[in-house]
Amino acid sequence: RKKLILDLDTGIDDALAIAYALGSADEIDLIGITATYGNVAVPLATRNALAVLHLFGRDDVPVYPGVDYPIAPATLPTMRGTTPDERAQAYARWQNGGAGGWQTDAPWSPTPGSVAVHHPNGIGGAIIPDSPRAPEAPGSAVDFIITAAHEYGPDLTIVPTGAMTTMATVFRNAPDLKDSGVNVTLMGGSLTLPGNVSPAAEANISQDPEAADYLFKCGARTTMIGLDVTHQTVLTREKAHEWDALGTPAGDFLVTMTDYYIDFYVKNQPEIHGCGLHDPLAVAAALDPSLITTFGFNLQVDLEGPFRGRTIGDRSRLQDFDKHTQVALGVDVSEFLDRFMARVTAAARG
Ligand code: BDR
Ligand code: CA
Repeated sequence: RKKLILDLDTGIDDALAIAYALGSADEIDLIGITATYGNVAVPLATRNALAVLHLFGRDDVPVYPGVDYPIAPATLPTMRGTTPDERAQAYARWQNGGAGGWQTDAPWSPTPGSVAVHHPNGIGGAIIPDSPRAPEAPGSAVDFIITAAHEYGPDLTIVPTGAMTTMATVFRNAPDLKDSGVNVTLMGGSLTLPGNVSPAAEANISQDPEAADYLFKCGARTTMIGLDVTHQTVLTREKAHEWDALGTPAGDFLVTMTDYYIDFYVKNQPEIHGCGLHDPLAVAAALDPSLITTFGFNLQVDLEGPFRGRTIGDRSRLQDFDKHTQVALGVDVSEFLDRFMARVTAAARG
């Protein structure tokens, strides 16, 4: 059977991605969730993943905290800006096996923008009980993913939907994995649309542009589910309120959380008429690539200037016949939305 690892910054749509995966239990085994940062810091991403699993009755899925700090942040939590030289040095140091920069200055914390999208508790202000379970050891995500990838190879799919630091560290620490057939279907980036945190950058890539740059260039085979497709797959308020009828704690949680997310979108991106289903689409495409249409590219990430965080073609690999990233530019919207409602509803039925 196929195995799945979700690498999440849980996160409203990350929680929906968990629900989608749990509602797909006939097709795939969710063998673990690893916690990254972005919408929230790693400790809260860990807590939320455990709590959502508990709410959905899946206390059997382990949760592994991941790398909790970007390789070369442009602004530190202390508000000091770093220089391009310092960032380039931190990236080079990290590529040579060292740590990135500045981890010890202060704990990482989300930007005010991320907090506004997902609420300070990450899950739209919905109150759900803590899990009775403890997470795995701090920082254990990287080794967990490496071990699973060696064991399962092409039968393993990893879906990263937050900062890419843990994923980049996996391929840096175990370079052989790029030829193992392991599948990485990530939510992040944008090729044909503007970004959502700057005119050029999508949130997950902008959290750690160096990590995403490394992931695109390291030789790993990736599929990119970016805003190009996730802004086409929209959950309307009317649809979300179908979960009212469930009358279960998980159903109520879904409604409260998505109401908050949709409120944000209505205020900030009224043209979308609902909320983008970013992370669940990545899970759906990972399970069934026939939902998307992809084109091959060799990508890099802009690391400096006003376009920092932009996903763009790597000019040094333009002539390479072999393309490492399949970028989704088309999606079967109605089939995905039907599956999304069916699977998430099944998971929340209790
Ligand atoms: C991505 O950023 C996060 O806010 C969401 O959870 C999603 O993974 C969308 O740009
Ligand atoms: Ca996310």
